Amino acid sequence: VSSMAPALLILLGATVILQTDSLPNKNAVLLPPVSFTIKVIDLAQVLLHWEPNPDQEQRNVQLGYHVKINAPEEKDYETRNTESRRVTILHKGFSASVRTILWNNHSFPASSWVSAELKVPPGSPGTSIVNLTCTTNTEAYNYTHERPYQVSLHCTWLVGKDAPEDTQYFLYYRYGSVTEECREYSKDTQQRNIACRFPRTVINSKGRDWLAVYVNGSSKEEAIKPFDQLFALHAIGNDKQKPWMEWLLIVLTAAACFILLIVSLICRICHLWTKLFPPVPAPKTNIKDFFVSINHEKTGSSETEVEVISYVEEAGLETLEDSVF
Ligand SMILES: *[C@@H]1O[C@H](CO)[C@@H](O)[C@H](O)[C@H]1NC(C)=O
Ligand SMILES: *[C@@H]1O[C@H](CO)[C@@H](O)[C@H](O)[C@H]1NC(C)=O
Ligand SMILES: *[C@@H]1O[C@H](CO)[C@@H](O)[C@H](O)[C@H]1NC(C)=O
Ligand SMILES: *[C@@H]1O[C@H](CO)[C@@H](O)[C@H](O)[C@H]1NC(C)=O
Repeated sequence: VSSMAPALLILLGATVILQTDSLPNKNAVLLPPVSFTIKVIDLAQVLLHWEPNPDQEQRNVQLGYHVKINAPEEKDYETRNTESRRVTILHKGFSASVRTILWNNHSFPASSWVSAELKVPPGSPGTSIVNLTCTTNTEAYNYTHERPYQVSLHCTWLVGKDAPEDTQYFLYYRYGSVTEECREYSKDTQQRNIACRFPRTVINSKGRDWLAVYVNGSSKEEAIKPFDQLFALHAIGNDKQKPWMEWLLIVLTAAACFILLIVSLICRICHLWTKLFPPVPAPKTNIKDFFVSINHEKTGSSETEVEVISYVEEAGLETLEDSVF
């Protein structure tokens, strides 16, 4: 019975050699990449890195890599680079595999896989926060400032059901390359942090970046499990229109003021003109008086009175204009 095993091994070896021999070009066999590592480079962000196999024949071939993310969520893609940056939650651990492929011939057999993983972060179960909710709010802010608006962030959570009484939680957010720690916490009756407010953030509410929120904790009794979550900004705040509307309002108001100013200037100039060249109303008065006197002479008292009244009204209007401008 014991002689069966070596015999099987020899058979297997022979099959492998036969397969290798049957390939059209022995040099084109794809070898798996080497030195595959996964490194946490930021909050909820990892860098996958690998090297081409040093024994890999690279002349006359275009190598590529097939990357497969296994956890926390399955995803696979191809790349010609030897590294790949991923935005991902990390509190459930992270694992990925990569293999060498021929970039321009997908029917050519790929290499075997190489894998790496990040372990689930340490901490007792039930100690991490639960039900994290975050909201952003775009607020009009200080128009002298370089940014016409500011995005504030407000997060709330529940204390883990098995977290010791002395647990303290700490919240961090990352947007782009900027990470900030919370400084304005709200506490529960046991002085544990349960909410956080950032009155100002570096978040761009029009941006496409993910908002990463990370909450870890400490306790004298046991290790507190950290928690992280990614938020798509278009999904949580939705007040992108606000600053744009505000700008529009400002522009409209400015335009209205400008028009008013121009109108008032024109009126002033017109008024000045009439003041500079007063002889126009002067002969009018004389003519009127002339007609009035003629009328008076011609038709009698009633019509004369009407004429006189209308003249007084005109004079009154002029005075009114003066007081306005
Ligand atoms: C791609 O690879 C397959 C399998 O080795 C081979 O039969 C085929 O000829 C190759 N195609 C090209 C265009 O090189
Ligand atoms: C917290 O979340 C869980 C599951 O997501 C839900 O069942 C529970 O009702 C939530 N608790 C509160 C207080 O919102
Ligand atoms: C506006 O921003 C400037 C510069 O950051 C600051 O000095 C000033 O106090 C701010 N004004 C108000 C009303 O917030
Ligand atoms: C929480 O995370 C921050 C950022 O990674 C780190 O600086 C800090 O030491 C951590 N605190 C605890 C108690 O683990």
